[in-house]
Amino acid sequence: MRRLYFAFLRGLSANRYSQAGVFLTTSAFILFVLFQLGSLVGLFTNAYLGLIAYLGLPALFMVGLLLIPFGWWRHSKSTGRPFRDLFAAQFSEEDIAARQEGAPLIRVILLLTLINVVFVGVIGSSTVHFMDSAHFCGTACHSVMGPEWATYQASPHANVKCVECHVGEGTVALFKSKLNGAWQMISATFDLYERPIPTPVGNLRPARETCEKCHWPEKFHGNSVVNRVSFDMDEENTPMYTTLLMKIGTGSEGQASGSHWHVADMNEVRYSSLGDEREEMMWVEAKQADGTWKRYENSNIIQSNVTGGEHIRSMDCVDCHNRATHIYEQPETALDLRMARGEIDRSLPFIKQKALGVLLGSYADKEAGLRGIEVSLWNWYRENYPDVLPAKAMALDAAITSIQQIYDRNIHPGMNVDWGSYNSYLGHQEGDGCFRCHNPKMVDEEGLAIRMDCTLCHSILADKSPQPFQYLQDPTVAHAGVDSTTHQYLHDEFWNTVLK
Ligand code: HEC
Ligand code: HEC
Ligand code: HEC
Ligand code: HEC
Ligand code: HEC
Repeated sequence: MRRLYFAFLRGLSANRYSQAGVFLTTSAFILFVLFQLGSLVGLFTNAYLGLIAYLGLPALFMVGLLLIPFGWWRHSKSTGRPFRDLFAAQFSEEDIAARQEGAPLIRVILLLTLINVVFVGVIGSSTVHFMDSAHFCGTACHSVMGPEWATYQASPHANVKCVECHVGEGTVALFKSKLNGAWQMISATFDLYERPIPTPVGNLRPARETCEKCHWPEKFHGNSVVNRVSFDMDEENTPMYTTLLMKIGTGSEGQASGSHWHVADMNEVRYSSLGDEREEMMWVEAKQADGTWKRYENSNIIQSNVTGGEHIRSMDCVDCHNRATHIYEQPETALDLRMARGEIDRSLPFIKQKALGVLLGSYADKEAGLRGIEVSLWNWYRENYPDVLPAKAMALDAAITSIQQIYDRNIHPGMNVDWGSYNSYLGHQEGDGCFRCHNPKMVDEEGLAIRMDCTLCHSILADKSPQPFQYLQDPTVAHAGVDSTTHQYLHDEFWNTVLK
């Protein structure tokens, strides 16, 4: 029997083509099996090896399989003899005898075909599985997904696979995503992609199928407290404290309402924007209890002048949480966070100001950036605080490492991702965010705007106050920090800057 296999393989190799075919198929098969065994014991974890094993080897295997009949066809053409004769010539007397005796050769053929089919199945499913892993999506095209991978790993969703948010359910979605993936491979190979990768992504899986599998909007209620410490640019890096009470209810089932009102089951908000960036709203509509829509129009845009298609969309989670996973930081808030955590020692004089300076510097590439941060900070402290430095050398070292991490996570020169390339809509600190709709220009028929008072979305318990907010037992004085004059002042000054 074993002799038969070899005879069979030798027999198949009619000419150079089918020889190459037999060689490719057999070696791809053996390598793939070895790779699988290696992976089982945890030998191979590298994405490039995976790419070779799951895409390269199957490709070789298939090419090999196709080369064999191709070789036979060429063989028959060049000799002008029919397949049957050639076949007889390729196999020895004994093999043919064995064949005539009954089935061994047939059995060999059947067995090998079966192995092929099973193998193609296994390879196919493990390739799909591999390509669904976050590690593959994040690192296979290395530099392309670098920014998304870096920010993803630092997010609360670092254990959620990319495909769980990016690929819809069902075969059509799977097929579309594979087509898309094939195109992405080509564009990555031939350098056809945009830098930075454009956002929003048109084919993001609907939030109902993703976010809402794990987060149930009806569950949101009450307030959530946001405490932030920020630091001044002075020598002492003076801390300031902000406390917001975010109103996050849905307003359903007797709960207080808040941000999640937009996504509560009974509500719907839809909008049309200029272009698909969703930055500039043309109109916004809120569904009313009686099923009609209440419309607000952007009084700055003369609707009849707008050319090009409307981009209508029903609001869902990612209209606010567009940075739920790919969370890019702002340089100042990134520093404040590390300083508050003590990773950057705030007893280093002027560290906030200097760190911000080096983070905002422009560098040729990532290496140069990381190096530049280190060199400039050391130089500056050597020059300006030579007597403080010896005692603070370790603190400065640690601070530099932390500042380099900020740079590494947020700045990706190869992809043209810089500060502000991707803004968060959750709030109004980076771009307009909530104020894309909540602004005085967005008015109904009677000229009334969508509500936008400072207490609609949050209570501001402390705003850059020198003291952390004190929760008082007595509820009547709990809000003493937000006296109405400060509020009015904040309000006016605020809208003046927004509207300028
Ligand atoms: C929890 C859901 C979630 C996961 C997991 C996730 N993403 Fe995203 N991704 C998003 C959202 C939301 C956006 C922004 C879409 C928008 O604004 O419309 C986005 C945008 C992107 C973009 C466009 C650029 C940008 O930042 O807007 C790319 C590329 C991308 N994701 C790749 C990945 C890769 C690679 C992974 C896995 C390593 C991944 N995503 C995992 C939700 C997710
Ligand atoms: C597979 C489950 C899963 C999916 C899908 C998912 N999340 Fe999450 N999400 C989590 C977990 C787990 C956390 C971390 C909770 C924690 O740390 O308290 C989280 C955290 C968050 C947080 C931060 C909460 C906080 O307290 O800071 C937000 C906001 C969020 N998710 C929004 C989204 C959005 C928007 C989507 C869809 C684009 C989404 N999630 C999809 C599981 C998921
Ligand atoms: C209109 C904007 C908006 C929409 C739409 C929205 N959210 Fe939120 N969400 C917020 C705001 C604002 C917060 C509070 C942020 C903070 O605390 O800093 C929040 C907080 C959260 C939190 C953290 C809750 C906590 O207890 O701190 C999660 C999780 C979350 N949202 C998930 C979702 C999911 C899932 C959806 C879609 C079903 C969604 N959000 C839709 C604005 C929105
Ligand atoms: C696409 C437009 C749009 C965006 C973006 C948007 N909103 Fe709204 N929001 C609306 C509309 C429309 C209403 C209802 C106005 C009305 O009363 O008719 C509303 C109402 C609200 C309400 C009051 C809910 C209630 O119970 O009446 C809160 C709170 C709110 N939004 C918070 C936010 C926050 C926070 C953000 C940003 C994270 C945000 N919104 C972004 C359109 C938007
Ligand atoms: C439509 C909802 C909405 C309205 C109206 C609104 N805000 Fe906000 N605001 C937010 C959200 C959402 C955040 C982000 C909270 C976070 O970062 O977690 C925020 C954050 C803030 C912060 C904290 C910024 C920081 O440094 O972290 C301040 C201060 C603030 N708002 C002031 C105001 C003032 C003053 C007004 C009135 C002019 C106002 N807001 C109106 C939704 C709103």
